Amino acid sequence: MPASRPKRRREVLASQVQDLAKAYDEMEKTGRPFGTLTIVEMGRKLESQGRDIIFCAESILSTQVPQVVLDETGRTFREASTGSEAPFLGLPELRQAIAGRFKRLYGREVDWNTEIIVTSGSMQSEYYLMAALLNPGDEVIVPTPTFFFDIPVKLARGKPVYLKLDPEKNYLHDARRFRDLVTNKTKLITLCNPHNPTGRVLTEEELSGIAQLAIDRDLYIMHDQVYERMVYGGRPYVPMAKFHEVQDRLVSITSFSKLFNMMNYRLGYAIGPANIIHGMEMVQSFSSMGIPVLLQKGAIPALNKGFEDRHIADTIARLQKARDYAVRKLNSVDGMRVSSPEGTNLLFPEISSFGMSSMDFCKYLLREAGVACAPGIAYHGDGHFRISLGSDRIEEAIDRITTAVSKLPRKVSKRDNRARVKATVSMPAR
Ligand SMILES: Cc1ncc(COP(=O)(O)O)c(C=O)c1O
Repeated sequence: MPASRPKRRREVLASQVQDLAKAYDEMEKTGRPFGTLTIVEMGRKLESQGRDIIFCAESILSTQVPQVVLDETGRTFREASTGSEAPFLGLPELRQAIAGRFKRLYGREVDWNTEIIVTSGSMQSEYYLMAALLNPGDEVIVPTPTFFFDIPVKLARGKPVYLKLDPEKNYLHDARRFRDLVTNKTKLITLCNPHNPTGRVLTEEELSGIAQLAIDRDLYIMHDQVYERMVYGGRPYVPMAKFHEVQDRLVSITSFSKLFNMMNYRLGYAIGPANIIHGMEMVQSFSSMGIPVLLQKGAIPALNKGFEDRHIADTIARLQKARDYAVRKLNSVDGMRVSSPEGTNLLFPEISSFGMSSMDFCKYLLREAGVACAPGIAYHGDGHFRISLGSDRIEEAIDRITTAVSKLPRKVSKRDNRARVKATVSMPAR
């Protein structure tokens, strides 16, 4: 468990890393910064003691790597493992396939040679972007709840400035509220669309408002689209890349982990203006020195149009069924509120009426229901918890959660459902 790691002399570490390490020590209690990991590790421990645990904490759509990818990885194993290294920016054939896909899907011409970098997961692209772009003290607007964008900001010595999105307005990204936070130190806005953890899919209007703000105040935009195309109900997916007027200030970041269930390949990429991609290349050159050729070669067939379209349609159909089941069941529990996500594999139910911190709530679910879920606090969204719908046993998990939550006393009246969560409220006895 991270919390029980031996304490070492921390003074030698850079202050931003010391802060992170200190937060890790407290993580089992506070859930910050990565309480999801704590819950998963607790679940694995219970599993090793013989408990049947269903894992719905990590954001996984499925663990089945597509057969075309496995075949290609196997076919090129010898040649790719023993041949020469790829350029630091990534294997040319893969970057060409990425550029072709971007043009096909979003109508945007990308120079594969200068405007794309392949990294180890999209998380690495996100860190590289911060490292390449930020000077100490530069401010980055991070709407919350959020995936961990603030941590690479801090590691790169930038300053996250949080903008709390309103659940009552369905987490609307209102450009006027972003504008209020801009100072002369603001350099970047982070967006996640479709949104982890809430499942929101941003509208063209929200995106265009933020694009205009970026132009007016000379800001950059990081558009995380690792759940791109994962939209329910046939609604078209509109990424920020559709807005041509921000091309010189936009970095779009994507991953093979979610769409193609390839999280163990650790493959992601960023598409952006050549000057920024070159800055990220500098960081990659003197850190990882590039990504294994074998994995890059193996990934190419996933980007084939016919394969991708079929794969995504199948994934959406499967997850939509799980989403509808989960939303219906969970909303039948007194005190729980969950809106139907517009995209992603994620649900983000509100639980503040139970008067528990989200970390305590997830520990309770683990003990009582044998289901591992993610605490909202890890995503700056206490008063909520996150369920990933990808498990083969998702309906059983939802049934177990429903039964366990029905046993919880309500601490707050229905009218005060949005009252602040008190982390001090004790756990129900077992
Ligand atoms: C919104 C978002 N961005 C980035 C990542 C990182 O994914 P990876 O590094 O596997 O590409 C995740 C993983 O859960 C995510 O949800």
